[in-house]
Amino acid sequence: MIQLIRGFKDILPEEIAVWQHIEKTARSLFADFGFKEIRLPILEHSELFKRSIGEDTDIVEKEMYTFSDGKRGMITLRPEATASVVRSYIQHKMYAKDPVQKLYTIGPMFRRERPQKGRYRQFYQIDAEVFGVNSPFIDAQIIFMLVTFFNRLSITDLETHINSLGCPECRPRFQKRLLGLITSVKSELCIDCEKRSTKNPLRVLDCKVPTCKKAMEDAPSILDFLCKDCDNHFEKVKALLDKRQVSFVVDKQLVRGLDYYTRTAFEIQTSLLGAQNAVAGGGRYDGLVKTLGGPAQPAIGFAIGFDRLVEIAGINKEDFISKPDIFIAALGEKCIDTAFEWVCTLNIKGVKCEMDFSGKSLKSLMKKADKLNAKHVLIVGEDELETRTVTLRNMSTKKQVSIETDSLVESIQEVLK
Ligand code: HAM
Repeated sequence: MIQLIRGFKDILPEEIAVWQHIEKTARSLFADFGFKEIRLPILEHSELFKRSIGEDTDIVEKEMYTFSDGKRGMITLRPEATASVVRSYIQHKMYAKDPVQKLYTIGPMFRRERPQKGRYRQFYQIDAEVFGVNSPFIDAQIIFMLVTFFNRLSITDLETHINSLGCPECRPRFQKRLLGLITSVKSELCIDCEKRSTKNPLRVLDCKVPTCKKAMEDAPSILDFLCKDCDNHFEKVKALLDKRQVSFVVDKQLVRGLDYYTRTAFEIQTSLLGAQNAVAGGGRYDGLVKTLGGPAQPAIGFAIGFDRLVEIAGINKEDFISKPDIFIAALGEKCIDTAFEWVCTLNIKGVKCEMDFSGKSLKSLMKKADKLNAKHVLIVGEDELETRTVTLRNMSTKKQVSIETDSLVESIQEVLK
């Protein structure tokens, strides 16, 4: 039997209601905050991700699904959405209409990571991006929106971590100092960090290998190296979050795994998922629109790990399972014919109505109604058709009502009101 590819998964019908509930919650909240949906392709030119996420990141170095598109060059299954949203903002000159654009997108992303709990090779993100706003107010607003989203889903075991990654003016000073420390502890670092130390020293701060963590314990804080503008920006973001009573921790180790970030970076972390503790992450990326060939417009955004969210949401699946309002137990060919007409009419009138076409006995039809958790059962036999009266039984109260077949649809609608 052909099985799923490792790291990929099916989202089964009994799980889908939870996904839909979360998606609905996001769509409604984001719309209230002025976001519009954008839908983007899952394949892009590989160059887009190399230039945005960064050549020396784990994602680009080893996790992308990249393949040849013949003469058109190399293409990649998107490992994240931000680069595509930026590409679209530039390509469609959205900035010309209004540089300020608030966009969100929901869909699958692909990274060839080692699969484990909370980590898949195809996973879903709920992604939101804001273009054209420099002010720290927007940083605070989207963190506030993100935290509100988790509150609406009643997820409480969460911590908001924030940091500032500075800008091209102040970050090199920090990197230089960091490199000094890294050189002195090089022998204690893992092979990946040894490689990272020259190409991307910031990433060493983020390494989860215990020996690297220990070696970097006394690492300087980037916050001590921020220029005046970056420092003021970060102070204002923190003050605004305090004012809105959003609790957060300042986390000097938080560097994020993608290269485009500047200034504010944040992650929503949980203890419920073991090693994969980030349920959402994001930050400012003020230089990316320009890097990808657009005008110099600032931007900020985040992505929520949809799969991880479903795992910690603790939403009772039972609450979402759709039960038929009516199950029609039709006995014999003639009754099935008539019941089929009723089912079709009830379905288009918005009544969840089901039946079985196989001509089973009353006993097995009642079993089926129970299995489906039908709220009511309508029993139709030859006698009922003859007398033009059928019985509708409420399966939880066991109360029965007689219904004239001539006005069946209207009567059922009345009972279900
Ligand atoms: P990211 O931190 O790489 O950021 O991913 C965001 C979230 O996606 C993570 O916090 C995690 O919940 C989820 N995620 C990532 N990889 C996996 C995986 N293999 N399996 C399951 N879930 C995963 C970004 O992607 C940025 N584009 C976020 C952003 C938007 N920054 C600015 N705008």
